Amino acid sequence: MITASIHNISKKYGDISAIKGISLDINKGELLSILGPSGCGKSTLLYSVAGLEKPQEGEIKLNERLLFSSYNNIFIAPEKRNIGLVFQNYALWPHMNIFKNIAYPLTIKKENKKVIKQKVLDILNLVGLSGKEKKYPHQLSGGEQQRAAVARGIIMNPDILLLDEPFSNLDAKLRERMQDELKRIQKYTKLTMIHVTHDQEEAMRISDRIAIMNSGNLLQVGNPDEIYNYPKDVFVAGFIGKSNLLSYDIINYYLTEDYINKIINKKKTNTILVRPEDICITNSDKNIIRGIITDKFNKGSVFLYSVKTKANEFLIQTDNTSNYPLNSNVSITIKKGCYI
Ligand SMILES: Nc1ncnc2c1ncn2[C@@H]1O[C@H](COP(=O)(O)OP(=O)(O)O)[C@@H](O)[C@H]1O
Ligand SMILES: [Mg+2]
Repeated sequence: MITASIHNISKKYGDISAIKGISLDINKGELLSILGPSGCGKSTLLYSVAGLEKPQEGEIKLNERLLFSSYNNIFIAPEKRNIGLVFQNYALWPHMNIFKNIAYPLTIKKENKKVIKQKVLDILNLVGLSGKEKKYPHQLSGGEQQRAAVARGIIMNPDILLLDEPFSNLDAKLRERMQDELKRIQKYTKLTMIHVTHDQEEAMRISDRIAIMNSGNLLQVGNPDEIYNYPKDVFVAGFIGKSNLLSYDIINYYLTEDYINKIINKKKTNTILVRPEDICITNSDKNIIRGIITDKFNKGSVFLYSVKTKANEFLIQTDNTSNYPLNSNVSITIKKGCYI
């Protein structure tokens, strides 16, 4: 079932086209991440759904209700959309304690005080902030403030929760913990979420699906496996994970056509993507490419090598038992790849 439907949305700021005719459906209960480099239009798209930006063209529906239509001249005000929002910079009110901050969306709706209290206490428990209700935002850590912001975003049971780079101000360890927490909250509440990030590892870790953007365009939508294993183009391949992008001719220079056909699906294009972990250093003498290790990084559980061969350079990732010194002569073999 589709919760939100974005259809042919375009937004310009003066001469700058921030979004160029994007269409995207968000399924009920899924966490969809919009992923792309800084300035590619992620926030503009999210704010168009929230009603904080008004696109020049397109339509946005939430549970079949038209929130925006340039064709029918409809624009529902943000506070009437029943959407929860979480920003990068927490955006809690400094003069209100955590209870009042979280209760705010219900207070302005003039909900019954007892109901409000019970809801706030429940949600504090859900986000792991029980007992902190009397604290003020400045008395909480960054992670706790962002938990409070999430609590405020979901307390009025929104039809969708929108999160704009919610964890990018947190240090790496805490960021991972908050990502897992968000996933847990999503599973528990079954809320539909659109999450904006420029961090591909974050998107891979928590998303049901990822929508990749660049320069105002939507390039590919798919689950993390699809995006990683079958990127649609060179940009997506390079943006998600590390990659070796090779022309067919280069690979064919080293390897027979038969072997290439065995490890790579039917020929479609002239560019082949091989992930670093799909190349290994081998003792075999069949289907190998010879080279020399020109660079080496010890990443703890894995090694990353640059191996210079006759016609190019390969990035290779091995487990930490394949420990070779710099300048070693090695034979490498490609295990799999795909055409893009
Ligand atoms: N209020 C604005 N006025 C003018 N240009 C803007 C405004 N907001 C965003 N832009 C421009 O639109 C493009 C997309 O911005 P944005 O959606 O914020 O990207 P992202 O969130 O992916 O970093 C950028 O080129 C940015 O400079
Ligand atoms: Mg942004």
